[in-house]
Amino acid sequence: MPGQPTILILNGPNLNLLGVREPATYGRETLADIEEACMERASALGLAVEFRQSNHEGQLVDWIQEARETADGIIINAGAYTHTSIAILDALRASELPVIEVHLSNVYRREAFRHHSYVSQAARGVIAGLGGQGYELALEAMARLVQE
Ligand code: DQA
Repeated sequence: MPGQPTILILNGPNLNLLGVREPATYGRETLADIEEACMERASALGLAVEFRQSNHEGQLVDWIQEARETADGIIINAGAYTHTSIAILDALRASELPVIEVHLSNVYRREAFRHHSYVSQAARGVIAGLGGQGYELALEAMARLVQE
Protein backbone atom coordinates (compact mmCIF):
# COMPACT_ATOMS: atom_id res chain seq x y z
CA MET A 1 0.00 0.00 0.00
CA PRO A 2 1.54 3.38 -0.94
CA GLY A 3 2.41 5.61 1.99
CA GLN A 4 3.17 2.75 4.37
CA PRO A 5 6.69 2.79 5.84
CA THR A 6 8.81 0.02 4.31
CA ILE A 7 11.05 -2.12 6.49
CA LEU A 8 13.84 -4.15 4.94
CA ILE A 9 14.39 -7.40 6.85
CA LEU A 10 17.76 -8.89 5.96
CA ASN A 11 19.04 -12.35 6.75
CA GLY A 12 22.64 -13.39 6.33
CA PRO A 13 24.49 -16.64 5.63
CA ASN A 14 23.07 -20.06 6.50
CA LEU A 15 19.74 -18.66 7.64
CA ASN A 16 18.20 -20.25 4.52
CA LEU A 17 18.85 -23.56 6.33
CA LEU A 18 16.65 -22.76 9.34
CA GLY A 19 14.50 -25.71 10.32
CA VAL A 20 17.19 -28.25 9.47
CA ARG A 21 20.29 -26.42 10.73
CA GLU A 22 21.23 -27.18 14.37
CA PRO A 23 17.60 -27.29 15.55
CA ALA A 24 18.70 -27.49 19.21
CA THR A 25 20.15 -23.99 18.79
CA TYR A 26 17.90 -22.44 16.15
CA GLY A 27 14.60 -24.29 16.50
CA ARG A 28 12.41 -25.99 13.90
CA GLU A 29 10.91 -22.87 12.38
CA THR A 30 11.97 -22.26 8.78
CA LEU A 31 12.90 -18.87 7.33
CA ALA A 32 9.66 -19.04 5.31
CA ASP A 33 7.71 -19.47 8.58
CA ILE A 34 9.45 -16.41 10.03
CA GLU A 35 8.77 -14.43 6.84
CA GLU A 36 5.07 -15.32 7.03
CA ALA A 37 4.84 -14.26 10.69
CA CYS A 38 6.62 -10.98 9.85
CA MET A 39 4.19 -10.26 6.99
CA GLU A 40 1.21 -10.75 9.30
CA ARG A 41 2.69 -8.67 12.10
CA ALA A 42 3.77 -5.91 9.68
CA SER A 43 0.34 -5.61 8.15
CA ALA A 44 -1.22 -5.28 11.63
CA LEU A 45 1.31 -2.53 12.39
CA GLY A 46 0.75 -0.69 9.09
CA LEU A 47 4.21 -1.50 7.76
CA ALA A 48 5.30 -2.92 4.42
CA VAL A 49 8.09 -5.51 4.55
CA GLU A 50 10.77 -6.56 2.11
CA PHE A 51 12.20 -9.87 3.44
CA ARG A 52 15.48 -11.16 1.98
CA GLN A 53 18.26 -13.66 2.62
CA SER A 54 21.72 -13.98 1.12
CA ASN A 55 24.83 -16.02 1.83
CA HIS A 56 26.97 -13.29 0.24
CA GLU A 57 28.37 -10.32 2.13
CA GLY A 58 28.51 -8.07 -0.97
CA GLN A 59 24.87 -8.79 -1.78
CA LEU A 60 23.87 -7.77 1.75
CA VAL A 61 25.94 -4.56 1.37
CA ASP A 62 24.23 -3.80 -1.98
CA TRP A 63 20.77 -4.26 -0.44
CA ILE A 64 21.65 -2.03 2.53
CA GLN A 65 22.91 0.67 0.13
CA GLU A 66 19.68 0.47 -1.89
CA ALA A 67 17.62 0.74 1.30
CA ARG A 68 18.76 4.34 1.70
CA GLU A 69 16.38 5.19 -1.17
CA THR A 70 13.73 2.50 -0.79
CA ALA A 71 13.21 1.73 2.92
CA ASP A 72 12.47 3.49 6.19
CA GLY A 73 14.21 1.05 8.53
CA ILE A 74 16.33 -2.10 8.53
CA ILE A 75 15.99 -5.21 10.68
CA ILE A 76 19.02 -7.41 10.26
CA ASN A 77 20.16 -10.85 11.34
CA ALA A 78 23.55 -10.86 9.67
CA GLY A 79 24.33 -14.43 10.82
CA ALA A 80 28.08 -14.99 11.17
CA TYR A 81 28.83 -11.71 9.36
CA THR A 82 27.60 -10.03 12.55
CA HIS A 83 30.92 -10.93 14.12
CA THR A 84 33.21 -10.22 11.15
CA SER A 85 31.86 -7.65 8.74
CA ILE A 86 33.07 -4.07 8.89
CA ALA A 87 31.61 -3.70 5.36
CA ILE A 88 28.09 -4.39 6.65
CA LEU A 89 28.63 -2.03 9.60
CA ASP A 90 29.79 0.74 7.24
CA ALA A 91 26.82 0.19 4.91
CA LEU A 92 24.36 0.29 7.83
CA ARG A 93 25.90 3.54 9.07
CA ALA A 94 25.82 5.04 5.58
CA SER A 95 22.14 4.18 5.20
CA GLU A 96 21.27 6.63 8.02
CA LEU A 97 18.21 4.46 8.71
CA PRO A 98 17.10 3.07 12.08
CA VAL A 99 18.57 -0.42 12.45
CA ILE A 100 17.50 -3.23 14.78
CA GLU A 101 19.74 -6.27 15.13
CA VAL A 102 18.12 -9.67 15.66
CA HIS A 103 19.53 -13.07 16.57
CA LEU A 104 17.52 -16.24 16.99
CA SER A 105 19.89 -17.65 19.57
CA ASN A 106 21.19 -15.93 22.69
CA VAL A 107 24.66 -15.24 21.35
CA TYR A 108 25.85 -14.31 24.88
CA ARG A 109 25.29 -17.87 26.08
CA ARG A 110 27.41 -19.22 23.25
CA GLU A 111 31.07 -19.14 22.18
CA ALA A 112 33.07 -16.00 23.04
CA PHE A 113 33.57 -15.16 19.33
CA ARG A 114 29.80 -14.57 19.10
CA HIS A 115 29.86 -11.98 21.90
CA HIS A 116 31.20 -9.21 19.70
CA SER A 117 28.96 -7.70 17.05
CA TYR A 118 30.00 -5.09 14.47
CA VAL A 119 26.31 -4.68 13.55
CA SER A 120 25.52 -3.54 17.12
CA GLN A 121 27.57 -0.41 16.59
CA ALA A 122 25.00 0.74 14.02
CA ALA A 123 21.92 -0.64 15.80
CA ARG A 124 19.36 1.25 17.87
CA GLY A 125 18.54 -2.00 19.65
CA VAL A 126 19.38 -5.70 19.76
CA ILE A 127 17.05 -8.67 20.28
CA ALA A 128 18.67 -12.05 20.86
CA GLY A 129 17.60 -15.46 22.10
CA LEU A 130 13.86 -15.35 21.43
CA GLY A 131 13.83 -17.31 18.18
CA GLY A 132 11.59 -16.13 15.35
CA GLN A 133 9.56 -14.05 17.79
CA GLY A 134 12.53 -11.67 17.92
CA TYR A 135 11.72 -10.51 14.37
CA GLU A 136 8.14 -9.69 15.35
CA LEU A 137 9.33 -7.78 18.43
CA ALA A 138 11.77 -5.89 16.21
CA LEU A 139 8.90 -4.93 13.90
CA GLU A 140 6.94 -3.59 16.87
CA ALA A 141 9.90 -1.49 17.98
CA MET A 142 10.52 -0.36 14.40
CA ALA A 143 6.92 0.82 14.02
CA ARG A 144 7.67 3.39 16.73
CA LEU A 145 11.14 4.29 15.48
CA VAL A 146 9.89 5.15 11.97
CA GLN A 147 7.34 7.53 13.49
CA GLU A 148 10.05 9.52 15.29
C1 DQA B 1 22.79 -16.01 14.57
C2 DQA B 1 23.96 -16.10 15.56
C3 DQA B 1 25.29 -16.09 14.80
O1 DQA B 1 26.37 -16.18 15.73
C4 DQA B 1 25.36 -17.26 13.85
O2 DQA B 1 26.55 -17.21 13.11
C5 DQA B 1 24.18 -17.34 12.95
C6 DQA B 1 22.86 -17.09 13.51
C7 DQA B 1 21.42 -16.16 15.28
O3 DQA B 1 20.43 -15.79 14.68
O4 DQA B 1 21.37 -16.67 16.41
O5 DQA B 1 24.29 -17.70 11.79
O6 DQA B 1 22.81 -14.74 13.95
